[in-house]
Order: sequence, then structure tokens, then C-alpha cells
Amino acid sequence: MSNNDSQPVPLMAPMRAFEEQEAEILEVTSRVLKSGMWAYSIEGKALETELAEYMRADRVCVVNSGTDALTLSLRALGVTYGDEVITPAYSFFASASVISLVGGTPVFVDVEDRTFNIDPEAVEAAITLKTKGIIAVHLYGLPAEVQKLREIADKHGIFLLEDACQAIGAKYNGRMAGTFGDLACFSFYPTKNLSTCGEGGCVSGLNSEAVDKVSKLRLHGETERYHHSLLGRNSRMHEIQAAILRIKLKKLTEWTEKRQEIGGRYTDAWADLPMRVPYVPKGYEHVYHLYVIQSRDRDRLRDNLNEKMIGNGVYYPVAIPSLEVFSGLGHQPGEFPVAEKLCREVLALPVYPQMTEQEINRVEDTVLDYFGHKG
Ligand SMILES: Cc1ncc(COP(=O)(O)O)c(C=O)c1O
Repeated sequence: MSNNDSQPVPLMAPMRAFEEQEAEILEVTSRVLKSGMWAYSIEGKALETELAEYMRADRVCVVNSGTDALTLSLRALGVTYGDEVITPAYSFFASASVISLVGGTPVFVDVEDRTFNIDPEAVEAAITLKTKGIIAVHLYGLPAEVQKLREIADKHGIFLLEDACQAIGAKYNGRMAGTFGDLACFSFYPTKNLSTCGEGGCVSGLNSEAVDKVSKLRLHGETERYHHSLLGRNSRMHEIQAAILRIKLKKLTEWTEKRQEIGGRYTDAWADLPMRVPYVPKGYEHVYHLYVIQSRDRDRLRDNLNEKMIGNGVYYPVAIPSLEVFSGLGHQPGEFPVAEKLCREVLALPVYPQMTEQEINRVEDTVLDYFGHKG
């Protein structure tokens, strides 16, 4: 065992991304602090322009988190008491909680067995007269079936909201995730592919009226100083976070390519093992926010990785309809078989641009050794 083999390989390492640009980040932090302009202002507006360019979107509106992006988007799309919104049974909690937070009812549907993303057929079957829209989560960085979902939404006259919190830069047939939905939401939480040193999020989308409404809602629905036309709230992005995001955005394409290179290496190395590697359908571009394998032997593999100090994590251990907070909806075990199976079988492994060659090899070899030794 070399010295480096005795060091843990973390599952995520946002500090390394900070260190890569430390001088620039500290310089800009000091500059913003000394400017005395700390709440959403020049940096926030410049970031919106640069994000729109990156995402090939008409307009982007920055807010304080991905959760705010989703909540304000649902408000802007008119979701209110009694409205149903269809969302996957398997995602991060906020993909569903935001629906309840604005007074709507989450209608859960199962995800696809291979992509782990919302199943369009199940979506169509769940549409009722009360359905107001669909939330499509691009889980782990792989776009959901946006074209099909767009068609379903248009056919039924309901909205499509992309939860792209894990998928900035992902593409479907060359087109960026976030350019299919009426609105699309992104998160800049510290572990995300593009991240703040705090919190942040943004909204874009095809419905420019709704984006405009989000931009008002995040500023207390103000039309002019102390004149309020909407019941909004405060979701101004801090100028330091906006300035940091501007610096990091310059690296996003390079960082995404590195994630894809590492993901591709794992997939090539592990393709023949008795476990599932991420499935990327033709025409889709995965940005590997997380590299997630699926194995019936997950827990033992996990013990082995822990023993070898290889970081790993279960995203997510419980299907959203089974969470205590949603017990009032009366869902029963077995209703979402794919989601429930994934909760037992998925495991995320380290994938981030600052991994060293030795760390990548260690992850690769540890998984290979585990299955090899099982014989
Ligand atoms: C799929 C998904 N939706 C929503 C969110 C919420 O974003 P935030 O943590 O920035 O509020 C996250 C963040 O983890 C997420 O992964």
C-alpha cells in the first residue's frame, strides 16, 4: 500500500474546486465586499447574461437556491390549491415538496428502469382534469425524455417544468437541458457541477412571461420601489456568490468534459461486471453530477468500498412517496416498484474534475477487485 492508498478518496470535494481558483475567488470576494454592493446587483445581472449565453437561453433569472427556483417557478406557472403536479417518485425531496409548499398536490409516478428518470407513459396515465403540469427531473445529470414529455405537455395543455438542478450543461440531441420546459430550474449548491460557496439557483425556460414573473417574485413582486404587484418574497442572490459563479462558469465546460471522461472510463472498465453502469441513451449527454451504479449486492459492495476508504453514497435511500411527510397521501409499498428497487440498489461513486489519476484508478480497481474476488 503506497502512502496515497492510505488516504481516503472523498465522494465529493468542493474544496478542491475552490482551491483551483482560490486567488481569483479571494480577489473578487474582497472587491465585492469593498464595493458595498452586497445584495443582487451588478454581479448578479452580469451572471444572468453569462448563464443565458452558456445555456443558450433567452433569459436567466438568479435566485437564492434550487428550491427557491422551483417554488417561485410553480408560483409563476400558476400552481395553487387543488392543482395536481406530476413528479417522479425517485429524486431529491425538493422535486416534490415544492408542489405542496405552494398548495398543490404532488402526483407521483414511477421512473424508468434504465435511465432512473420519470417514465413518460406513467406520466400520461396520471393526467387528470386537475393536472396543471409535469416536473421532469434530470437525475444525476442525465436529461429526462424531454421531447416526449414536451409533446405530452402540449397535447394536454399543461406545463413542463425541468428540474435541472443536477444537470447544468447536459444535452438532448445537442440541445441544452433547460431549453425544453416552460421553465427550468438549476441549483448552485456547493457540491453541484457549477457551485457557489454558499447557496444559489436560477430559472430559465421557454415561457418568457413566466421567467419575468419569477424575476419579480424573487424581489417581493416589486414593480417599482415600494410598489408591489405580486406576493413575492426575498430570494436575491448575494453578490459574492454571483461573482464566484462567474469565475467558476468559465471552467464549467472543461470541468464537465473531465467528469464525462472519468464517467466514460468507469463505464468502459466495469461494463462486464455483474452490476449496472449508468445508461446513456443515444443522443443524450450525461454530465455526471453523480456516477451511480446499480447492484443487488449494493450493501456489501458499499462495506468493501468503506473498508478501502473509497467515498460513496446512496442517492436516495427512500422513495419520496414513502417519506413520513407524505404519509397523508396514503401511498403503499409496492406502488412504485422501480423507485423502491433503486433505493435498495443504487450507489454513487466519486466523480469530480479534480480527482487525481491515482484516485480514479483506485476507484476503478477497487470495484473490479471486489467483483473479481467474489469469483
Ligand atoms: C433534483 C434536485 N432538485 C432540487 C434541488 C434543490 O436545490 P437547492 O439545494 O439548491 O435548494 C436539488 C439539490 O440538491 C436537487 O438535486
